Amino acid sequence: MSKVVTKYVCQSCGYVSPRWVGKCPNCSEWNTFVEEAPAPVKVARRSGVQSKLEPVSIEDIDADDTPRIKTDIAEFDRVLGGGLVPGSLILLGGDPGIGKSTLMMQMALELKDQVVLYVTGEESARQIKLRAERLKAAGKNILILAETNLDLIIDVIERGEPGLIIVDSIQTMYRPGLESAPGSVSQVRESTALLLRLAKTRGIPIFVVGHVTKEGVIAGPRVIEHMVDTVLQFEGEAHYSYRVLRALKNRFGSTNEIGIFEMHDTGLREVQNPSEVFLSQRHYGASGSTVVASIEGTRPILVEVQALVTSTNYGMPQRNSTGFDFRRLALLLAVLEKRVGLNLGQQDVFVNIAGGIKIDEPAVDLGIASSIVSSLRDIPVDSTSVAVGEIGLGGEIRTIGYIEKRVQEAAKLGFKRIIVPSNNLKSVKSNGGIEIVGVDRIEKAIEALLG
Ligand code: TYD
Ligand code: MG
Repeated sequence: MSKVVTKYVCQSCGYVSPRWVGKCPNCSEWNTFVEEAPAPVKVARRSGVQSKLEPVSIEDIDADDTPRIKTDIAEFDRVLGGGLVPGSLILLGGDPGIGKSTLMMQMALELKDQVVLYVTGEESARQIKLRAERLKAAGKNILILAETNLDLIIDVIERGEPGLIIVDSIQTMYRPGLESAPGSVSQVRESTALLLRLAKTRGIPIFVVGHVTKEGVIAGPRVIEHMVDTVLQFEGEAHYSYRVLRALKNRFGSTNEIGIFEMHDTGLREVQNPSEVFLSQRHYGASGSTVVASIEGTRPILVEVQALVTSTNYGMPQRNSTGFDFRRLALLLAVLEKRVGLNLGQQDVFVNIAGGIKIDEPAVDLGIASSIVSSLRDIPVDSTSVAVGEIGLGGEIRTIGYIEKRVQEAAKLGFKRIIVPSNNLKSVKSNGGIEIVGVDRIEKAIEALLG
C-alpha cells in the first residue's frame, strides 16, 4: 500500500516543500505554507495513435483586429488599452474594501448590449442587488449567480450565452475534484486554468477578482498572474476617496496608463482633471509645500508635496513619509545635510503627498527637498512655481523624462514658472506661456524656489 505523501505549498507563490517551513525560500514570505494532499496523479501513456495536430503557418492566421468592447467608463477603457478584448482573461486585484466589486458592478451596468453574468462567491444575490441600487443605474442585462462550485458555474455558462463574465472572487471558487480548500494555491490555480480555457474557446472576456493579502491563508493572486492576459490593480489609501487603477501586465495594451476614480456614496466617479482635484485644497502661503509635476502613466499630474520639520522631543528623530518611498526620503535628507548644510539630526521630518496618491518617480525629489527646506526655515515656497528634477547624491539636479508634458500641464493650470533640470532645457520646444528656469545644483534650485 502506498503511503499518502502530503506536501506543503506556499500560498503566496506556489513553492512546494516536503515539510513545513516558516519562511518561503522562494518569495521570502513568512507563514505561508499550508499542507495540501496531493491530487491522484494519472500518468498518461503515449498511445500508438498518431495525433492529427498540425502547426499553422503564420501567414495563414487571420489577425483581423477584433473589435474591442467599450465599457463606457473612459478611465477604465484607457487602462485596458482601448476597451475589452474578446476572449481575454483579466485579473482585478486589490485590498479588501477598496472597491473592486463596485467597479465591476458599475462596468456591468454600463454595458448595455452585452449580457453580463456576475458570479458572486462572497456576497448574496440580495447584497449585489443592493449595491446596484446604490449605484443608481438600472441594468437589465445582468444575471447574478451566487455559487462557488466552479463545475456548476461552467455548466450554467455553457447553457447560456453571456457576453461577459465576472467572477468575484477567485479565492472563493473551488473545483470539487480537488481536495484542498477554496482559496488555496491549487484551487485558485485550477479554477483560473478552467476559466482561461473557457475564455479562449468561447471568446468571452472574463474578469476575475482577487484579493491581495500578505498575511493569512488566502492565496495571493500572484500565482495566477502569468496565466491571465491582463493584471489590473486597484489601489488607494483607506482614508482617502481617490482610487487608482493600474495595469501591471497587459497583453493587449500598454502598462503605463492609469485611471483615477473617486469613491462617492453613489459609486466610483471618473476623475478627468486630476491636477485640478489634487491641487484644490492647497493652502497658499504656508511653508513646507511645493507643487510638483509628476507623470502617472503617460499623463502629467500636478500634486502638492508637503513636509513638516519640527525639533525632536524624544531623543530619536522621527522620519515619516506617506505616498513617497521612505528610503528615498532618507537619501534626500542625507544629501540636504551634506550639500546644503542643513542640520536635520535633531529634527523630525514628515513628508506627505497630498490627496493620498503614491508617487514613485525620482522627478519629485526636488519638490520634496524644497518642501523640507521651506518647512525648516519657515519660508513659503513661491506659490506660482512648480518644481521638477531628480536629485543625485552629489547634489546635482539630474535630467528627467517627459519634460514637455510637465511644462504644458503647469502652464495649463496657470502657474507662472517651472524649475527644471538645466540639461532638460534644450528638449523643451514650446513653453506654453510659462517661464522655464533651468537649475543644475540643489542649492540653486532652493534659491530659485525660496528666494
Ligand atoms: P467593495 O466594492 O465592496 O470593495 P471590494 O469588492 O474591493 O472588497 O466596496 C467597498 C467599499 O466601498 C465599502 O467600504 C463601501 C464603499 N462604497 C462607497 O463608498 N460608495 C458606494 O457607492 C459603494 C457601492 C461602496
Ligand atoms: Mg468585493
